[in-house]
Amino acid sequence: MKKQWWKESVVYQIYPKSFMDSDNDGMGDIRGIINKLDYLKELGINIIWICPIYKSPMDDGGYDISDYYTIDEMFGDNADFEELLEKAQALGIKVLMDLVVNHTSDEHDWFEKALKDPSSKYRDYYIFREGVAGQAPNNWRSYFGDSAWEPVPGEENMYYLHAFTKKQPDLNWENQEVREEIYNMINYWLEKGLGGFRIDAILNIKKRIEMGHFTPDGEDGLTFIGHWILNQPGIETWLKELNERTFKLYNSVTVAEAAVPNERLKEYIGPEGFFSMVFDFSYTDIDVPETGEWFKSSNWTWDQMRENIFINQLVTQDNGWGALYLENHDQPRSINKYIPEKDINDTSKKMLATLFMMLRGTPFIYQGQELGMTNIKMETLEDYDDIATHDQYHRAILAGFTDEEAFSAVNRRSRDNSRTPMQWDDSKNSGFSLAEKTWLKVNPNYTEINAGKEKNNPLSLLNYYKQLIELRKDSIYKDVIVYGRFVPIKEANTNVIIYERILDNKRILVAINFTDEKQAVSLDPDYNKFVIGNYTQSNIIMEEIHYLQPYESVILANYEGELK
Ligand code: GLC
Repeated sequence: MKKQWWKESVVYQIYPKSFMDSDNDGMGDIRGIINKLDYLKELGINIIWICPIYKSPMDDGGYDISDYYTIDEMFGDNADFEELLEKAQALGIKVLMDLVVNHTSDEHDWFEKALKDPSSKYRDYYIFREGVAGQAPNNWRSYFGDSAWEPVPGEENMYYLHAFTKKQPDLNWENQEVREEIYNMINYWLEKGLGGFRIDAILNIKKRIEMGHFTPDGEDGLTFIGHWILNQPGIETWLKELNERTFKLYNSVTVAEAAVPNERLKEYIGPEGFFSMVFDFSYTDIDVPETGEWFKSSNWTWDQMRENIFINQLVTQDNGWGALYLENHDQPRSINKYIPEKDINDTSKKMLATLFMMLRGTPFIYQGQELGMTNIKMETLEDYDDIATHDQYHRAILAGFTDEEAFSAVNRRSRDNSRTPMQWDDSKNSGFSLAEKTWLKVNPNYTEINAGKEKNNPLSLLNYYKQLIELRKDSIYKDVIVYGRFVPIKEANTNVIIYERILDNKRILVAINFTDEKQAVSLDPDYNKFVIGNYTQSNIIMEEIHYLQPYESVILANYEGELK
């Protein structure tokens, strides 16, 4: 296994609208990030990924870009961003931007020109088709609901394709000029000293367009677009070209938002792969049905969770390198997803942190996860900003859910659960902003859950995360945690998850009890060194019969020494 600095790194994801507001307009900004670099340094992370900050009408939280070269003024300007790069660099922190090249905003100059003049070259930058029998070219459903085809205003029987919202027209990657524009843009940013990119929705760039009416899979008469646009044959040629013309030249780090089928993983993340790593969705999306209709919760179990983690870890290590995450800006808070309400506390939060941070791969911590931030209980639908939330609510109603059921689904799964302002301290608006009104409500539990309070408590989740990060980055266990083989332990007791990480004769073992009851486990006696756990007193090594307390998690090792 080739050693690489980014395999030994821990990444922190920033949702800029909600991280820190320096000019008190109720919205986070780049200067806010600069002001909080010390916090990040102290946490111990060494890469940040910032969600899109380019010029955008913000129909989809900035994933609808109208100018790839300019920072949106709500976040500051290009000079602020360069200052951030420089100051982060001085602290040993690399910066990744979000790369959104499956689509642009409909307010991008290219799209505006394409609409204005059907004979302009920009027409072929996007995907236009004539309708069929007076209707859209086919009955694909966009990922955010409703038809994926939008009629072109002022033109008869003409539509453009959008896999996401209608304000996000898909780019036509078949057109080499489009690809050249994209490569130039990427290199423009890499040239400035960017560490690399998180790459958005990249599996969608190749389309297999078929006209007509397909069997609907929902009450709306439409069908899941993914069958025709996800990971289609031929995509590999463009991904290879993309890598060779950009990332590879700068030795950049890339992490793709791409649920790649196991048999194709090597092409993506192997030694000659298109990307440094891809995210593992197998356990974060465990509660969502395949069609993405999250208002219909899947009835997942922890058995499935363990199975998915084990399989994904094994397949990934056979093929290359993975990216780990429990939360991001598209997910609700992990603690609410995995743990019943009555058991949400610091112990169960630390249990999740241990489970996740010791896996093989580069961990991505999402802002506020290190504090144990939770979902927010919004009161009305209008409180939600996220476009996908409104769509899922309406689809739920269409599917026959009552208003109450639809709203409760939204409360559980809305992407806004993780987009609420960062909870810095217990002052006004959680120390995020002095504005009268923040762009999205602050979670009222900020007086209890906030960075200021946790910083001063040695037993807080924040300090626990710091220890886990230090174990990975700077301890006698570093090599085994980063490069060790992942070995699942199939226990007789199915109420626990146990795995080992092994490098030569160095071994660590991670044991997790995900239930609210004490669980007996049998452990190899070689594991006689207690590294860290979420109970102040663990009996795991001392006792004859080993048992784990409710939600207990421990890391044990077969060797010791000074921690560093
Ligand atoms: C990705 C982003 C998500 C966005 C979508 C469309 O899934 O993570 O936030 O809505 O792409 O760009």
